[in-house]
Amino acid sequence: MGRAKISIIGAGNVGATCAHWAAAKELGDIVLLDIPRPDAPDQHMPKGKMLDLACCGPIERFDGTLTGTFDYEDIAGSDVVVVTAGIPRKPGMSRDDLIETNVKIVKSVSENIKKHAPDSIVILVSNPLDAMVYTAWKATGFPTNRIMGQAGALDVARFRTFIAWEVGCSIEDVTALLLGGHGDDMVPLARCTSVHGIPVSDLLDEATINACVERAKAGGGEVVKLMGTSAWYAPASGTIQMVEAIVKDKKRIIPSAAYLDGEFGCNGLFVGAPALLGKGGVEKIVEFKLTADEQKLFDESASHVKDLVDTVVRMFPELA
Ligand code: NAI
Ligand code: 2OP
Repeated sequence: MGRAKISIIGAGNVGATCAHWAAAKELGDIVLLDIPRPDAPDQHMPKGKMLDLACCGPIERFDGTLTGTFDYEDIAGSDVVVVTAGIPRKPGMSRDDLIETNVKIVKSVSENIKKHAPDSIVILVSNPLDAMVYTAWKATGFPTNRIMGQAGALDVARFRTFIAWEVGCSIEDVTALLLGGHGDDMVPLARCTSVHGIPVSDLLDEATINACVERAKAGGGEVVKLMGTSAWYAPASGTIQMVEAIVKDKKRIIPSAAYLDGEFGCNGLFVGAPALLGKGGVEKIVEFKLTADEQKLFDESASHVKDLVDTVVRMFPELA
């Protein structure tokens, strides 16, 4: 059996860190693609980053071919393509402020994926995430099981981290679930959060749980404020968790921006939901009954995603 091939488009903070995690976990051969910098015509940033990363192999003990490139021909035969190309937000910007620039980038990247890796499974990371998943779906024309977005893996990891800090236990013992879009109205589900099977509400008071919910919701903004640009370690880690589930056909249930076809009362929209990820991409949405309050929050979040998609279509009618 050959190695899996994973291509990452965008070799910036998130993309390069995805390459790092994927190499460290020895998930397969990795291609990192970016565009040339007009102000530095003699440099080749993706090649430089992959050369640097390859030299960790003897220390970290991973094999695999690491390719840095400007050329889409190198992504041919990819099993998974991760899209991190686009601008990140700066302090004071919301993810939605990025829409016009990043739709243009993600549309052209998607057209190249369609041409050069037509059988791949595509994971979007660029923001505003939910709008980018829609853009890539339209621009590739791929079936919905092969298009998804990374947001929930990160957002739920943030929530689990904050809960573990409050309980004072290992983060490995906290499991949680989160639904909805990758915006400030994402829906962490306290009811589905447990500490080694013990409902979190038996261990923490409501105000503390709510504070963790709010901190997870604003987690991206908290990092932007501290660093002046958006996060990359945890976003890349969440992305590679999805890649690993796919290339190892693990059937993991990971909250992902996935196409909902009636599940959770949502029709024809990519929104964060528990997705079973395996070699077929999103193999199934794991649906369960929400309480009335949860459903209301989910509906609000889905309606924000719908607004974003409407904005994309208004700006780029060819993506309707
Ligand atoms: P960055 O600026 O460090 O890297 C972006 C890279 O994309 C740059 O190297 C740039 O040259 C490249 N790029 C631009 N146009 C391109 C094109 N047409 N083809 C190929 N490469 C192209 O930004 P960073 O921090 O890596 O963020 C990337 C994106 O991911 C942003 O949109 C950011 O908002 C988003 N993001 C999403 C998260 C999520 O959870 N979904 C979390 C963190 C960031
Ligand atoms: C994050 O949540 C900005 O989407 C990015 O960190």
